[in-house]
Amino acid sequence: MDKLIIQGGGPLRGEVWISGSKNAALPILSATLLSEGLVTVANLPHLQDVTTTIELLGSLGVTVSIDEKMQLEVDNSTLQSRTAPYDLVKTMRASILVLGPLLARYGEANVSFPGGCAIGSRPVDLHLRGLEAMGATIEIEDGYIKARSDGRLVGCHILMDIVSVGATENLMMAAALAEGQTVIENAAREPEIVDLANCLNAWGADVQGAGSNRLVINGVESIEGGHFSVMPDRIETGTYLAAAVATRGRVKVTQTDPSSLEAVLLKLQETGAIITQGDDWIELDMKGKRPKAVSLRTAPYPAFPTDMQAQLTAINAVAEGTGVVVETIFENRLMQVQELNRMGAVISVEANTAVVTGVERLKAAPVMASDLRASAALVIAALVADGETVVDRIYHIDRGYECIEEKMHLLGARIKRVPG
Ligand code: UD1
Repeated sequence: MDKLIIQGGGPLRGEVWISGSKNAALPILSATLLSEGLVTVANLPHLQDVTTTIELLGSLGVTVSIDEKMQLEVDNSTLQSRTAPYDLVKTMRASILVLGPLLARYGEANVSFPGGCAIGSRPVDLHLRGLEAMGATIEIEDGYIKARSDGRLVGCHILMDIVSVGATENLMMAAALAEGQTVIENAAREPEIVDLANCLNAWGADVQGAGSNRLVINGVESIEGGHFSVMPDRIETGTYLAAAVATRGRVKVTQTDPSSLEAVLLKLQETGAIITQGDDWIELDMKGKRPKAVSLRTAPYPAFPTDMQAQLTAINAVAEGTGVVVETIFENRLMQVQELNRMGAVISVEANTAVVTGVERLKAAPVMASDLRASAALVIAALVADGETVVDRIYHIDRGYECIEEKMHLLGARIKRVPG
């Protein structure tokens, strides 16, 4: 297993470009299954989760090719299977996103039941209930979700009792090909939902209201396909900015979308960062100063994202003062805390709340990545720690950060990858 070796020290300085969004790319790749014609998808990030999704499409029999501009072309006229097997689903829960498209387009889908994961139990009941409301029959058999539809799915009214990004996406994709109108109330409002809706509309669907909590989807008989370019990754953006804050540096991120990061930028400003921005760039300058601790509570968009919580905990670990971090989305998402404490941080956890009292400096230690965003927090901590930190199990980082060591290197970090 590869490891990252990070020599802590000076501030991050420089400019780094932002890759396409992982969380937008995964549903968009699943949505290609809805299309009758060819589709092309650009600005895909080179990430393990994207590779896994492409492998999943391949295992269904879909023809996927990549051109010289790293643009993906998908032709699903060759599709043979309607089964997402255990081996792929167990490595990536987002495989559940093929359920809605396969069912809506082919009347049949078998997706291995995703288990719990490190950050929480993560049930899929909302996905299944919504599809049943559209007329699907669903059985759980031999560890598989077996969904069937006799003819087209039928549009309906769905009220989601919890805001779920994945369920909103799955149901939006299924409703795109259903007969009649589907209304989804209490829908997730994340920018990735808007990107998926824009993509579906570009390919011939009729999805209205994305970005609000009420989606209206007028089902169409077929989706023709076309081209779409994936939005920039707001969490990757936030992570490089958070690293700049922790290291008291000055970093400019380019090829990004500042409008998708309002809650994060407000919090980073509270730490003392000076932030300037243009249409597609953000520059953050700490003017060499130690950050101030901030308190936050994660919640669905447009509030502070759970995917940035661990990185802010790392900032608080070296900040002036005490910050209280409350995680409300996932039940077990404070796993970075134990590892940060091994580096000299002073953090106590009770239930879903971490109380972080900043220390002047952290000390290098061997640490282990436990999930994607917790790993990012460990990298940030390592950048400010005295000595050489070894971060093990970095396959978690590779699921969500394209070329992290090269990009950090561009910013002056002393970081290298060693094969394990
Ligand atoms: C997506 C993101 C992930 C992010 C999360 C919350 C992708 C690929 N992943 O995950 O990075 O952290 O949104 O912003 O986009 N829930 C249920 N029943 C369901 C579905 C969800 O109870 O059927 C619960 C979950 O356990 C969780 C909460 O709802 O507590 C939110 O989860 P959800 O928004 O669905 O997260 P994902 O789509 O899995």
